Amino acid sequence: MESTKSDGQFFFWLWNFQPEPFTELAPLDESALPSEPLSLFLRWFREAFSAEPFAQAAALATVSQDAQPSVRMVLVKGVRAPLAFLVVTGATSQKAQDLRANARCALLFFWATLYRQVIVQGYAREVARHEAQEYFRGRAPSHRRASWLFPQSTPIQGRYQLEERLARVGNRIQSDESEAPSWWTGYWIQAHRVEFWQGQPARLHDRIVYEYHAEARHWRCFRLAP
Ligand SMILES: Cc1cc2nc3c(=O)[nH]c(=O)nc-3n(C[C@H](O)[C@H](O)[C@H](O)COP(=O)(O)O)c2cc1C
Repeated sequence: MESTKSDGQFFFWLWNFQPEPFTELAPLDESALPSEPLSLFLRWFREAFSAEPFAQAAALATVSQDAQPSVRMVLVKGVRAPLAFLVVTGATSQKAQDLRANARCALLFFWATLYRQVIVQGYAREVARHEAQEYFRGRAPSHRRASWLFPQSTPIQGRYQLEERLARVGNRIQSDESEAPSWWTGYWIQAHRVEFWQGQPARLHDRIVYEYHAEARHWRCFRLAP
């Protein structure tokens, strides 16, 4: 571990922290790839799920009306054909505000132990209220209670407010209570481009892209240089 001062400015050289050797996977062979990305995603997801504690965690990037990008982790709740990812969240959050103004977004899964990433570009469609309600019912009781405390991402004065509100709301919201608060919602992120990246020794990484052509309902598949 080293730190260096250069031109009087503090500088911490992260380059010294080389990653541990990773699981070496066979190179991706185009002739063995499916013609659409959903089955490849599901295969990679199942492999990640046996290797990682948070295989369904992904970084969701959004862009506000005034072009400010932001990014945060979410837990992806479902996947459907041709390729869309379900995210549930608070309608008052930055991501939801951004998505209302600009539906274009990106989602990135990183599975460190397998040295793989999947990058999705697409646009978000908010779910209907009854659909949000259905997903809410599937949440654990403690998660449902927490969703009722405050609209997500609104400033609060301190942790004490959460505890106070939990003591009040928690008694009212029984564990079988399944009504979602009005500020609770979800988005399907419809992919039009997805890149599967697999780390390989000597930086000869595999990058396979699928692009969706909606009129033809066809995925074009090609390889990019690492
Ligand atoms: C592993 C992980 C999973 C998360 N999953 C979600 C999620 O599914 N939905 C959500 O709204 N926030 C989730 N969060 C919290 C978000 O990262 C973020 O703090 C919150 O959504 C508010 O973000 P925003 O105001 O930028 O939209 C998760 C955080 C972590 C670290």
